[in-house]
Amino acid sequence: MHAVGVDALLSLFPPGSTLDDDGMLAIEGCRADALAAEFETPLLVVSEPALRARAREYADGLAARWPRSRVVFASKAFPCTAVQRVMVEEGLGLDVAGGGEIVTALAAGADPALLVLHGNAKGDDEIAMVAEHGIGLVVVDNADDVDRLEATVPKGRQQDVLVRVIPGVTADTHAHVLTGHAGSKFGLLPAAAAALITRIERSPRLRMQGLHVHVGSQILDVDPFVQSVAPIAALGEFPVYDLGGGLGARYSYDDRPPAVGEYLDALIGAAREHLPADAEVILEPGRSMVASAAATLYRVVTVKRGEITFVAVDGGMGDNLEVALFDQRFEAGIADRFDAGGGEEVTVVGRHCESGDVLVDGVRLDAPRVGDLLAVPATGAYCFTMANNYNGNRRIPVVFAGDGAARLVVRRETWADLLARDTDRIEEGERWRP
Ligand SMILES: Cc1ncc(COP(=O)(O)O)c(C=O)c1O
Repeated sequence: MHAVGVDALLSLFPPGSTLDDDGMLAIEGCRADALAAEFETPLLVVSEPALRARAREYADGLAARWPRSRVVFASKAFPCTAVQRVMVEEGLGLDVAGGGEIVTALAAGADPALLVLHGNAKGDDEIAMVAEHGIGLVVVDNADDVDRLEATVPKGRQQDVLVRVIPGVTADTHAHVLTGHAGSKFGLLPAAAAALITRIERSPRLRMQGLHVHVGSQILDVDPFVQSVAPIAALGEFPVYDLGGGLGARYSYDDRPPAVGEYLDALIGAAREHLPADAEVILEPGRSMVASAAATLYRVVTVKRGEITFVAVDGGMGDNLEVALFDQRFEAGIADRFDAGGGEEVTVVGRHCESGDVLVDGVRLDAPRVGDLLAVPATGAYCFTMANNYNGNRRIPVVFAGDGAARLVVRRETWADLLARDTDRIEEGERWRP
C-alpha cells in the first residue's frame, strides 16, 4: 500500500470540499467536526450544489446531443424525498422501482406523468397505483405485467408502456450488478420481447411506446452501452427508447469512469446510427448522478493493534452494504489528518456482528485513535437505500450541505422507531414472569 496524497483523497469528496487551516475537512463550507457535533455520527453528508450540478450536466448534455430526450433519475440510487425533490426541481423525471419509490416521488412533488415504473416482479398493488396516480410510463418486464395492466387500466384509457429487452451484453462489472447478459432476470430476450410487443400492440388498454434496455451498474467503459443499442433497434421502430443507466462512479484512486460527456457522445453516437431520428431518448442514471455528491462521517470507537490494525467505527454494513454485496472499494481519511504519509495501514471495520462488515480493507490513516472522525467519500449511491437495522442499527441521518449551512433532510432513527412495528409487546415497565 503506497502513501496517497492529500489532494488525491480530497478529490474523491464532493467538488465543494476543502481542508480548513487546521486540516479539518469541510464540505460546502461545513466543517466535519461541526456537523458531527450538531447531528452526531454516523452521518451522511450530501453536497446539494454537487447534486444539482450533476443533474444539470446530464440534462444539458443529453439535450444538446439529442433534443427529443429526457433524463429520469434512477431513484433507487438514493430514494429519499429530498434527493428526488432536487431532481424534480432540476426538471428531471424519476425512475421508480416499485410502490415505495412512487410514494416518495409523489411526496417529493414529482409529476406522475414523468415517472417511469420498473420492476421484475411488480405486485397487484403496485400495478394498481399506475392507474390511480396516472404514472407516465410502465416498463413491462414480463407477460404477467401485461395481464395485470390489462386487468386494472380503466376501460377507455390506454397506458403507455415500454418493453424491457435483454440485449445480450455482458459488461465488465461485478456479477451482482450485471443486467444485460443472456441469463438476466430482468426483461426478455429479443424473441420473447417481439412476441409480447405483438400482444401489446393488439391490446385496447395498452399503448406500445417503445423499448428499454439497461446493461448493469458501475460500468467504467462506454462499449457495453454502445453495444446495447443495436439489439433493441433490431426489434423495430418506436416513438421512445429508454437506454437505461449504469455509468460508473469514482470511488477509489484508480477508478477512471468516463465523463458524462464522453459517455453521452458514445451512447448518442450509437443512437444516431441505429435509432429513428425523431424518436425520444430517455436515460436513467442513478449511481453516477449521486455517488460523488456525498460522504459519510463516522466516529472511531476502538483501535485494535495486532497482526492487523483494526479501526472500528460506529457504523458499517448498517449504513453501507456496497462492500459486502459487491466488494466495492472505498477510501477513507481521518477528517482532520488527511495526510497519511507517515501513518499506518489499517482495516476499517464496522460495529456489526459479521466478519464481512469491513468498510475499507487496507488503507493508510494518520495515527488513528479513539474519538477521531473518519470520513468516507463517494457514499451517495445505494448506501442510504440499503441501510438496515442489523444489530438494532438505527438508520443514519442525511444532511444537505450548501453555502456554509447544513440542514437535516432525513433524521436518525430512534430507539422507539426500532420498536414501532412490533405488535406483540409488553407494557412499559412490565416484566415477563413464568
Ligand atoms: C432499470 C434500471 N435503470 C437504471 C438503473 C440505474 O443504474 P445506475 O445506478 O447504475 O446508473 C438501474 C439500476 O440497477 C436499473 O435497474
